[in-house]
Amino acid sequence: MNILILGSGGRESAFAWKVAQSPKCEKLFIAPGNAGTTQYGTNVNIKVTDFEGIKALVLKEAIDLVLVGPEEPLVKGVHDFFLADEQLKNIPVVGPQQEGAQLEGSKDFSKIFMEKHNIPTAAYKTFTKDTLEDGLTYLATAGLPVVLKADGLAAGKGVLICLTLEEAQTELKAMLADAKFGEASSRVVVEQFLTGIELSVFVMTDGNSYKILPEAKDYKRIGEGDTGLNTGGMGSISPVPFADADFMKKVEERVIIPTVEGLKKDGIPYKGFIFIGLMNSNGEPWVIEYNCRMGDPETESVMRRIDSDFVDLLLGVAEGNLDTKELTISPKTAATVVMVAGGYPGEYLKNKVITGTENVRDSIVFHAGTAMDGEDVITTGGRVLAITTVQDNMFSALQQATADASRIYYDGMYFRKDIGFDLL
Ligand code: AMP
Ligand code: GLY
Repeated sequence: MNILILGSGGRESAFAWKVAQSPKCEKLFIAPGNAGTTQYGTNVNIKVTDFEGIKALVLKEAIDLVLVGPEEPLVKGVHDFFLADEQLKNIPVVGPQQEGAQLEGSKDFSKIFMEKHNIPTAAYKTFTKDTLEDGLTYLATAGLPVVLKADGLAAGKGVLICLTLEEAQTELKAMLADAKFGEASSRVVVEQFLTGIELSVFVMTDGNSYKILPEAKDYKRIGEGDTGLNTGGMGSISPVPFADADFMKKVEERVIIPTVEGLKKDGIPYKGFIFIGLMNSNGEPWVIEYNCRMGDPETESVMRRIDSDFVDLLLGVAEGNLDTKELTISPKTAATVVMVAGGYPGEYLKNKVITGTENVRDSIVFHAGTAMDGEDVITTGGRVLAITTVQDNMFSALQQATADASRIYYDGMYFRKDIGFDLL
């Protein structure tokens, strides 16, 4: 069968690497892809939100299955677009329709959903411009720190953790009255701050049954020791040692089952991934957020621990028989180190030639923000490469991924050398 992956990051590179290995995959296309995805398939320069362009490609190349990487096309309704189109409606899309994608697209929607289905999450209240005064009063009674979340998609920047009441009130005003995050902050969720250690849990569902993929931990801060500004993600490891059988049983019973059942009860069709951002607070799971897609850079580690045919699992999601499919997970440890551009996550360097990838010994170099410039591979994004290795134990995996990252060079290159070392 012919498969199309939408997206261009490290996550989509890892998907492409895995999908290309399946005997079921004849031709693989990635739109738009990056300099690395051409190793696994054919790049087509179409934006993930250009639905008409995607349609033309799907028909031209006789695509049998579409795997959606990022949230934006899902929240904008790419799956609904397929279902509403006579020529596309029978071509399965892995990724939820717009309604289900609201789990990520609206923080308020996801909080209401969790409250309704008794899924453990921080206490909250939602405010709009009209209820700003109530919000300011509420903040005065809420404990500190307090978390403010723009309701809509804000490119990962819409969450603010405020340490003082003054800061919280200033920010709430900026979000609601001055549209700090545009339309995304026309509604703001004010939420209790949770303490503990975070992890990412991934579920694949056909809307009825589900499979739990390997969990992962990602490292969001730019600096070693989890310091400095937030980024899209600087590295990941899987498995997560503190996510032991006892903890994962609680996650399954208190979060995963009520989520999948809740979607069903609410009549929300859902074929795709559910990414559950969790806080482990003294051994108890609390949901921080849902995403309607896989995580990046978690996917790079997760794909490397899946031993079964991933396309077969995707077909299970698409055809609604996921319960008949096999998911085999490697007991080994996967580690990913993300190499970023100089200056990232602020204004960053671009168009720097990347050298040394041929010297990498025991990792896969998944590309993210890269492009071809003649014969050269150059940097184009903030997150440039994701170096992923699999080893028998966590220590070797962390060491190998870091060693392999240091074999690659481009002007301004930076990566954290402490990914996962807090867990050893
Ligand atoms: P989100 O965009 O919802 O993933 O939030 C970004 C980050 O903010 C999360 O990964 C957490 O590190 C942090 N965060 C969000 N909500 C809370 C909360 N209620 N308590 C503590 N930290 C939070
Ligand atoms: N790694 C976090 C995310 O993909 O949102």
